[in-house]
Amino acid sequence: MTDERIEAMLAELSPAEKAGQLTQYFYFKLPGEADPALGVDAEQQPRAVEAALGRGRVGSLLFVTDPAETNRLQRLAIEGNPHGIPVLFGFDVIHGLRTIFPVPIAMAASWDPETIERGQAVAAREARAVGIHWTFAPMVDIARDPRWGRIIEGAGEDPFLGAAVAAAQVRGFQSGGIIAGPKHFAGYGASLGGRDYDEANISEYELWNTYLPPFRAAVEAGAGNIMTAYMDLNGVPASGSHWLLTKVLRDTWGFTGFVVSDANAVKSLETHGFAADPADAAARGVLAGVDLEMAVSEPAYDHLPEVPEAADAIDASVRRILAAKLRLGVLDEPYVDEDRAREILADPQHREVAREAARRSAVLLRNEGDVLPLDAAALGSIAVLGPLADSRRDTIGPWVFDFDLDETVTVLDGIRRAAGDGVRVEYAQGIPVTQRVFPSMFDMFGGNRPADPDGFDPALELASAVDLAAASDVAVVVLGEYQNMIGESASRSSLELPGAQLELLQAVAATGTPTVLLVMNGRPLDLRWAAGHVPAILDIWYPGSQGGNAVADLLFGAAAPGGKLPFTWPRTAGQIPMFYGHTRSHEPQNQYRRYWDEESTPLFPFGHGLTYSTFEYANLSVSAGSAGVDDEVTVSVDVTNTGGREAPEVVQLYLHQRHGRASRPVRELKGFTRVVLAPGETRRVTFTVGPQQRRYWHAAVRDWVLDATTFDVWAGGTSTAELTTTFEVR
Ligand code: NOJ
Repeated sequence: MTDERIEAMLAELSPAEKAGQLTQYFYFKLPGEADPALGVDAEQQPRAVEAALGRGRVGSLLFVTDPAETNRLQRLAIEGNPHGIPVLFGFDVIHGLRTIFPVPIAMAASWDPETIERGQAVAAREARAVGIHWTFAPMVDIARDPRWGRIIEGAGEDPFLGAAVAAAQVRGFQSGGIIAGPKHFAGYGASLGGRDYDEANISEYELWNTYLPPFRAAVEAGAGNIMTAYMDLNGVPASGSHWLLTKVLRDTWGFTGFVVSDANAVKSLETHGFAADPADAAARGVLAGVDLEMAVSEPAYDHLPEVPEAADAIDASVRRILAAKLRLGVLDEPYVDEDRAREILADPQHREVAREAARRSAVLLRNEGDVLPLDAAALGSIAVLGPLADSRRDTIGPWVFDFDLDETVTVLDGIRRAAGDGVRVEYAQGIPVTQRVFPSMFDMFGGNRPADPDGFDPALELASAVDLAAASDVAVVVLGEYQNMIGESASRSSLELPGAQLELLQAVAATGTPTVLLVMNGRPLDLRWAAGHVPAILDIWYPGSQGGNAVADLLFGAAAPGGKLPFTWPRTAGQIPMFYGHTRSHEPQNQYRRYWDEESTPLFPFGHGLTYSTFEYANLSVSAGSAGVDDEVTVSVDVTNTGGREAPEVVQLYLHQRHGRASRPVRELKGFTRVVLAPGETRRVTFTVGPQQRRYWHAAVRDWVLDATTFDVWAGGTSTAELTTTFEVR
């Protein structure tokens, strides 16, 4: 029946209408002037798209979030077109639609797939309510270069964690009623120098072992869509790569959903010097396996009717798009209930899920002398400092568009609400608001923090912040990057705290008032000075619309932090790339220094994160000291809460293959689980290590291999865990 319905629809379509089904347009109704860099005429673009809708030349739209608008545009598609095929609405629902969750790298730092899944299910519920059928998420690109602004959108450096986070997001989105579109296939995170959109050159060994596993996990979790990547991968544009989009994705992994290009990426095949002209770009896109072209204007796929050799590929792609519409119920129920949408967007439960997610994603980097948690009962005054402490727009982070700033809780708001009547909470900005050197393409969506008022005197402002710190019992300084300093097209050449932030921190610390640094970020920043001088450092990321409440819960101990770093935190940009899963060569790392002007170690290792209690690990054992190459073993370890309060811990398992047909990383994450233990409580945690965890892709064999060898095993609360044992594989 399903197939018959699709075949009947396909048979009705003219070549131009088929091309239309394979075209997705941006629909811009911009609050401000369109950025000329996007090449969009804010007046013309929406009108041109509406005309195309009426002619049946549009299969999908993106960037519409108002339910009345989705209904209006859907009506144009259905009523204006003789075949009346509804459009699919796609959108970047990255970390929430109205209820804003912590940014994706923060969610990954929870190391908690259930929290991640629950969060994306909420985001999906809100999206579906307004008429969005599909999200361009999760971004599952492995990122090992934090200069790259898009590190914030992914799960960090590790393929095992990345795969778990990818699958959890796919499950969350799709259980919430929308299609998930893992992106950007593949290798975008390795763009040269961290420069957005630049080429990636990735060996086959790294591609299979490091960059592809999260995509594969997302496909296995049932993702209905995949988005291509912009850059050249090993000399071929990823958006025109038949090897990636058909051989790997469909033939090897059995993907049955549809593939969308990144925005304008099919047209760009010409820019790459790959396609000869737009018609050639269209042919090569569809023949490589791009079903749907995402375009701002003048899609290359307008030329598909001129490409007779692609007729079968075009039909196959149209079938996939129609199948997605059918499966989602869009063909039968194309409109949404606008009143119901309003109710769902306002659901208070959604805010609770976001607050819990923000609590779970914060990472306590340092807590010398147990400065945290703060004892509100014993405090008379708190100084809250820095422009980020009271910036709603920054609190929710980049890649959100449909937010409500009125309901966004800043760190200052959260501290004020939680501190209680007896505590005097005062705020000072302290330093000028820093701007990006070059404006951001997202600035057109408005909502950025206001610039400093006329007459702003930096010297006076700093002095008053320092006076406030000196006169308070504790200083909470919020530093990091403004939200438009990270994300797409927001790469950096350094990791320093922008502007005069370090100066503010140093001046505050010099007062002798106990100082807590809250870092608002999506990438590691150069915190070398802070790590040696500021007793408490809590990474709060961009914590979302409930962020201030969650941060206050953690500061005052209503909740204990339990996040762990999803990336290695370098000391300085000069160490990049730096990741824990490197191989060892020549002499052990650090026996001979890798740099003579800087340590060879990171500032904070992958997997690091403290809490308000302490944990001890003991009795690490493997079920069999020796196992066959195809056998599973189990690894168990006792974890005991040795501190004074209930707290979470992420128990991590790392493996190392001592010898074999290739050099393998010094450590690789192969298991993790989050536990919450009462003081004195011990839990025995068990992991399964089978061929799936031990195999690796061998570049010369060009296949997955398993070696007979010895494995080292470590278990603990960080990638530098010391408790170790071994087992043999025969
Ligand atoms: C370009 C980005 O690379 C992609 O991630 C995003 O989904 C699209 N634009 C649509 O906004």
